[in-house]
Amino acid sequence: MIVEKFIPLTFENTVENGEIEWASPSNIALVKYWGKKENQIPENQSISFTLNECKTITKLSYILKDNKTDDFDFQVYLDGERKLDFEPKIKTFFNRIYNYVPFLKNYKFKIETKNTFPHSSGIASSASGMSALALCLMSIEKQLNPKISKSFFNKKASFLARLGSGSASRSIEGDLVVWGKHNDIEGSSDLYGIKYPYKVHENFKNFQDTILLVDKGEKQVSSTVGHNLMYGHPYAKQRFDQANSNISVIKNILESGDLEAFIALVESEALTLHAMMMTSMPYFILMKPNTLEIINKIWGFRKETKLNICFTLDAGANVHILYPENEKEQILEFIKTQLVAYCQNGHYICDSVGLGAKKM
Ligand code: DP6
Repeated sequence: MIVEKFIPLTFENTVENGEIEWASPSNIALVKYWGKKENQIPENQSISFTLNECKTITKLSYILKDNKTDDFDFQVYLDGERKLDFEPKIKTFFNRIYNYVPFLKNYKFKIETKNTFPHSSGIASSASGMSALALCLMSIEKQLNPKISKSFFNKKASFLARLGSGSASRSIEGDLVVWGKHNDIEGSSDLYGIKYPYKVHENFKNFQDTILLVDKGEKQVSSTVGHNLMYGHPYAKQRFDQANSNISVIKNILESGDLEAFIALVESEALTLHAMMMTSMPYFILMKPNTLEIINKIWGFRKETKLNICFTLDAGANVHILYPENEKEQILEFIKTQLVAYCQNGHYICDSVGLGAKKM
């Protein structure tokens, strides 16, 4: 599919005003997206679990302007308070998607947003936030053009979300989502995420993710700076090739239910992401001492109990602990007694794999 398909040529209806609300989840990548080309095209394919509890809920109210002006007219509120500092990011997003959402300048918008996870928890809200907003805009498009199909709705929502934040393209629909064109994944695209289209073994159903909040501070490296580090990176090509082959590997794992292979792939991906940051110029160490303490404890516990616990990391110090549902009891006990001490103020979030965004 080419981008032109996402440009609406006419609108059947006129819509004066209204409001629409979506709850959209965060996601955790198993094979990581790190490095992008122009227009938010990923350098490599990625796949993620959609989360169930960590969500952004966004209400978009819109009123048709008397005269269409040449600028966007919107205000952003977080937890009921005007957030002027969010507005430049939304403006950039609107500029990027204007071609595809040409009614954007016709309305005055109020964007009211809240997160189900604690503010400043160090959990990135760009995936859930941008996807929630993209879905709200698609709901307006659906009112203007009621005939658009559910499949087009979701594809375009993911396409728009991607232009806000790459990982947001993976937060629309499905428990496992692939983004990036890959020969082994039918229907995959660099332009939007798709629900993983193959059989998934029972072992991965309702997989658990406990997020240990090691560092709740501001991100040390913004995602834009981070992705840019892959330009001219000495290992960039090898990394992109590795991600490509890891998608094929994980496809087999997801089918066979091989948890040992899953653990090896997921932990290697997490450490590779951090290795890319440590070996770029400038270089960064985003793990904290407690991140390493937790990783070592997990390795020790896994060796001792043979339970299928593993970790993954985002571009920060927090640790996502992944494990099958049927091992939940013992692993949660281990987390509470052995790992919570390494979290900032003892904070952690219990989550599990969910099915995607929901209209409220
Ligand atoms: C490390 O999606 O935040 O979480 O496209 O610049 O908004 P932008 O980047 P973003 O990058 C996320 C990178 C990651 C890995 C991943 O989620 O795949």
